[in-house]
Amino acid sequence: MSKVIEVQYEQPACDTRHAWARVPVEPGPVQRAALKDSIRRLLKERNAVMVSHYYVHPDLQDLAEETGGLVSDSLEMARFGRDHAAQTLVVSGVRFMGETAKILSPEKRVLMPDLDATCSLDLGCPTAEFTAFCDAHPDRTVVVYANTSAAVKARADWVVTSSCALDIVRALMDQGRKILWAPDKHLGAYIQRETAADMLMWNGACIVHDEFKGFELEALKRAHPLAKVLVHPESPADVIALADAVGSTSAILKAARLLDAPEFIVATDNGMLHKLRTLNPGKTFIEAPTSGNSATCKSCAHCPWMAMNGLAGLAQVLDLGTNEIHIDPALGLRARQPIDRMLAFTAGSVFKNASGTDSGLVPGIGAA
Ligand code: 13P
Ligand code: SF4
Repeated sequence: MSKVIEVQYEQPACDTRHAWARVPVEPGPVQRAALKDSIRRLLKERNAVMVSHYYVHPDLQDLAEETGGLVSDSLEMARFGRDHAAQTLVVSGVRFMGETAKILSPEKRVLMPDLDATCSLDLGCPTAEFTAFCDAHPDRTVVVYANTSAAVKARADWVVTSSCALDIVRALMDQGRKILWAPDKHLGAYIQRETAADMLMWNGACIVHDEFKGFELEALKRAHPLAKVLVHPESPADVIALADAVGSTSAILKAARLLDAPEFIVATDNGMLHKLRTLNPGKTFIEAPTSGNSATCKSCAHCPWMAMNGLAGLAQVLDLGTNEIHIDPALGLRARQPIDRMLAFTAGSVFKNASGTDSGLVPGIGAA
């Protein structure tokens, strides 16, 4: 199997000052309790349900679960929002998560605490350049990560998240498909190393995971010889090489529960530590290092856009119905097809024939 790695797009510098300036001030205890009470009441009054990602503030994770909503990885957020009966979804996370919810449920109202909460992968994959990239390679099946705009998804044959990307690319490769992959170069390179698939890559990165440092992680491992290392695949190759488990945020949680170790070093956004610690009280979780020898901060792995989600913003959008996600219906229909393929694949239906055995066929792959 031939292998191709090609960088087509020069990643622009990603300015996060706007996001950090919009991170809400932590409320005091009285205000925090009052905001939580308002949110509980408003969720009922508005027939709304919360869907939160593991990287947002612990209060938004706990409230989601406590009120019958969900905290999870991006794949399960999409599925839950689609399947839940509530007519209003309040998505705490980043913009692509809200957009995916809207694409899958155009009839529902999808609100977010801050609509400017974006993602460096989404910012680094503009539609016009990406479309030109795809047009230049019509022989390839276009597989895009969920961390992209609705317009980029609409140009794709498949959408994937980190929890299913490896399996989907492997299945496509088994069909003899050549892949055009965007936008995360580290996740793409990881999949290529695992599958040997023929993949042409976009040059995007997550500004949070891109900062983990392999040489610092080696030093930390030496200081904690019993620790197992859990890594999100948006991290660089030398960090992934040191991992005991590699996977999505949900896979990291699962590995922490199943692996028998007293300590874990975690290479993903530090918002994840809340769930890891709550679910594993007897185990110790240490943040993987993001910086070099001379830096003052050894681990600063937190997504500025995830941090923009707060209790006050959430209460306000529920109260006033502001910050609604809108997607052009025609664009939404096109973007939905590759997302539906992913959801069908992960539900186990795509590769099964009528008798439930593997058919070896990938139906409806589109033009590629
Ligand atoms: P997961 O799909 O693993 O939750 O990841 C989403 C994300 O944005 C990671 O940075
Ligand atoms: Fe995007 Fe990285 Fe933030 Fe996830 S952590 S939303 S990939 S910038």
